[in-house]
Amino acid sequence: MNAANDKIIIKFDKVTKIFGTFKVLDELDLEIPEGRITLILGKSGEGKSVTIKHIMGLLKPNSGTVTVDGEDITHFDEKQLREFRKKFGMLFQQAALFDSLSVKENVMFPLREHTKLSEAEMETQVAKILEDVGLPGLQEKMPSELSTGEKKRVGLARALVHKPKIILYDEPTTGMDPLVSDMIDKLIVEVSQRDKDLTSVVISHDLKAALDIADHVVMLYKGRVQLAGTPDDFRKSSDPIIRQFFAGKVDGPMEFF
Ligand SMILES: Nc1ncnc2c1ncn2[C@@H]1O[C@H](COP(=O)(O)OP(=O)(O)O)[C@@H](O)[C@H]1O
Ligand SMILES: [Mg+2]
Repeated sequence: MNAANDKIIIKFDKVTKIFGTFKVLDELDLEIPEGRITLILGKSGEGKSVTIKHIMGLLKPNSGTVTVDGEDITHFDEKQLREFRKKFGMLFQQAALFDSLSVKENVMFPLREHTKLSEAEMETQVAKILEDVGLPGLQEKMPSELSTGEKKRVGLARALVHKPKIILYDEPTTGMDPLVSDMIDKLIVEVSQRDKDLTSVVISHDLKAALDIADHVVMLYKGRVQLAGTPDDFRKSSDPIIRQFFAGKVDGPMEFF
């Protein structure tokens, strides 16, 4: 694909974020194409989660602007942000299901929050999305009865059930065994292919598997973009920082703060 021809749905313009005296994002310029899978790479502590929180307006920049889906959200108030966040689905490292609620109630949660659908309509949507993630008929199960992989799928169903425009995955496979990771990676691609308009943003520090699923890749380093391009641009890059990241070695030009 050619990201350069795509419509940009998320844009950071010189975004700086400082915690105390620590500058996490340093005039970060970032563009994420609509309807694609964008992978954001960077070593631990590099500001990946902070970046995702700016996309949703959970954090505000010290300076710079964040534009999402045509709106400058930088100065949105809480009420505007609540409405704005309906555009998003999120899947984090811990699927964080509510243990005391059934699969059905877990998946229904965003519908209760964000929509005024009837109980019957919600049930229909839950059944449909559970099928989409490969868990048909599991509505009445409790989270404790599920395998790790199944919990992740339920988390994904919950993230997608209200038909978000943008889905954010923050280290969705970190800490999972390789087979479950592979299954999640495949699901991310499947979900993206099923809904061509859905924009997926995947954060990972495990690039080898993740590169295979991405259309567009951005690597953060020292609060800025070190490289943005296709997975192939990354595989072929001779940039020593990128090469070191690929090799997973401590020795090299990359600074560890
Ligand atoms: N709310 C916060 N308050 C203070 N420091 C924070 C906060 N959130 C993140 N940080 C710091 O910002 C840096 C980047 O964090 P994060 O985006 O979570 O990294 P990662 O790339 O691993 O996701 C870390 O040094 C972290 O400690
Ligand atoms: Mg993180």
